[in-house]
Amino acid sequence: MDKVEKKRRQIDSELDRRKTKRRRDDDEFKVVEGVIDPPTLKILYKLLNRGTIKALHGAISTGKEANVYRGEDVEGNSVAVKIYRMSTAETDFMFEYIVGDPRFRNVRRKSRTLIPKWALKEYKNLKRYHEASVKVPAPIDIERNVLVMEFIGDHQTGLPAPLIRNIKIPSPVDIFNEIIEMIENSFTKAGLVHADLSEFNILWHDGPVFIDVSQAVLTGHDNAKRYLFRDIQNITQYFQKLDVETEDPEVITKHILSLCESE
Ligand SMILES: Nc1ncnc2c1ncn2[C@@H]1O[C@H](COP(=O)(O)OP(=O)(O)OP(=O)(O)O)[C@@H](O)[C@H]1O
Ligand SMILES: [Mg+2]
Repeated sequence: MDKVEKKRRQIDSELDRRKTKRRRDDDEFKVVEGVIDPPTLKILYKLLNRGTIKALHGAISTGKEANVYRGEDVEGNSVAVKIYRMSTAETDFMFEYIVGDPRFRNVRRKSRTLIPKWALKEYKNLKRYHEASVKVPAPIDIERNVLVMEFIGDHQTGLPAPLIRNIKIPSPVDIFNEIIEMIENSFTKAGLVHADLSEFNILWHDGPVFIDVSQAVLTGHDNAKRYLFRDIQNITQYFQKLDVETEDPEVITKHILSLCESE
């Protein structure tokens, strides 16, 4: 065997070795193959290579904007992986909540550029909430349209936490007050208004946990007060159905706004 042939065989065997390795990695993502577009699969490999995740398990939820999966980090702990669809009909809706945000400049309606900003907005909002000690999933990592965050649920069984609308809330009066306090702390400490708060976006895990915060706006947003009132109205309406005597949502909103004005 001449030198050239020997070198060629060496390269072939190295390529084979890499292919085998690659195939083994592919197994980690087999549940999502065929469901996830190849560019997003590439993002998952990026997250795998930098050690954020090592596997993806079943879907927790499939929505119109995004799917949420239970994943696993390198230590074997569960994480939640929210994968935003790169093509969506929701761009007009998204635009309203991102345009004018000083954290995101030159926002365009095209989903290819808007979606990664939208996912990054959720990551940044989670970070603000988390730092202000408002209960949300802790953000872990973000890459293009894939957000990795703390898994809220039973880490032993891998079962995600239920939404508050699907459980019997223990002492609804106390939990109503706790949620209003979370809204207040979001405003005064995190500087955010959730803007899509309802029983559909609050999990129950030893207490209420806010989720789905991509549309949350800074308190300086043109419509922040309107969204704050809407959030409070949704929550009061829900708890009224559970026989809680709530204060008028307008009074609660004014009280929260006054806390900032007096500072
Ligand atoms: N960190 C998490 N841990 C556990 N489960 C989660 C987590 N984040 C989201 N989920 C689950 O995934 C569902 C969808 O998440 P989210 O509300 O953020 O996405 P969405 O795109 O708005 O979906 P939808 O349109 O259904 O509201 C939630 O209702 C919840 O059941
Ligand atoms: Mg939601």
